[in-house]
Amino acid sequence: MPKLTRFNICLLVITLSLSGCSWKNHSAKKDSSEANLPPVPADHSSTAESNKNKDGRQTDSGVQIVTTPEMIPVLVNKHHMLPDDYNPSDLVDPNIQFIFAEKLEKRKMRAKAATAIEMLFTAAKQDGINLLGVSAYRSHSEQTSLFNHYVNVDGYEAAMTYSAVPGTSEHETGLAIDVTGGNGKCAAEDCFKGTPEADWLQKHAADYGFIIRYPKGKEQITGYQYEPWHLRYVGKTIAKKIMDRGITLEEYYNTAAVNNGA
Ligand code: DAL
Ligand code: ZN
Repeated sequence: MPKLTRFNICLLVITLSLSGCSWKNHSAKKDSSEANLPPVPADHSSTAESNKNKDGRQTDSGVQIVTTPEMIPVLVNKHHMLPDDYNPSDLVDPNIQFIFAEKLEKRKMRAKAATAIEMLFTAAKQDGINLLGVSAYRSHSEQTSLFNHYVNVDGYEAAMTYSAVPGTSEHETGLAIDVTGGNGKCAAEDCFKGTPEADWLQKHAADYGFIIRYPKGKEQITGYQYEPWHLRYVGKTIAKKIMDRGITLEEYYNTAAVNNGA
């Protein structure tokens, strides 16, 4: 065998062995939480190109219709829309105080989220933090009215930075709630930022299975302004992974950033 060929074979052996080492190192470093990601979007949504809503409506290109909307850690955002006919089946009234006294639908949450928000409010109170509910569940028609109202007031582009197009609001899942401080001021308003209540939620929400769904500095990923008042129930395990790592639900699922210029 000529000398040059033997040299090439040696090079090949060294290259293969090095690439093997580097693969092993990469595997060893892989975060186990990432390895156990739920099957999103492959198993969770269907592309709009291949699926229409029950009424035959085709969504915008690239928007996926969620196929398992009842899943607790469901991803709902500008790219992942609930089916038109989705109504959560286990809505209940959490035993917490709201900024209003009436028995309105927007008090409701899905059963697990309701129990969790009761525990969160109780724990906050024990730490001297008084919280009030502002708005939890919204039906599709309620979200439609609200979104249209904001479009009328602020225009479509601005509304899109803080209000969800009907079908893409987490409030329609019964797993989200907006909260504020005990004085009832700053309800879903910017002045809630930096309050002791907002700080407490940032530190402790995950202990009860909630995340701050639209964090500061992640506007290009979530597609929404910072909303320290919007709590989303995902369950304790996922909430802790998300809040400890300072990431969003989009990043947890490793889906594309929404990036709508918000
Ligand atoms: N404010 C949030 C994005 C919603 O309308 O669901
Ligand atoms: Zn909200």
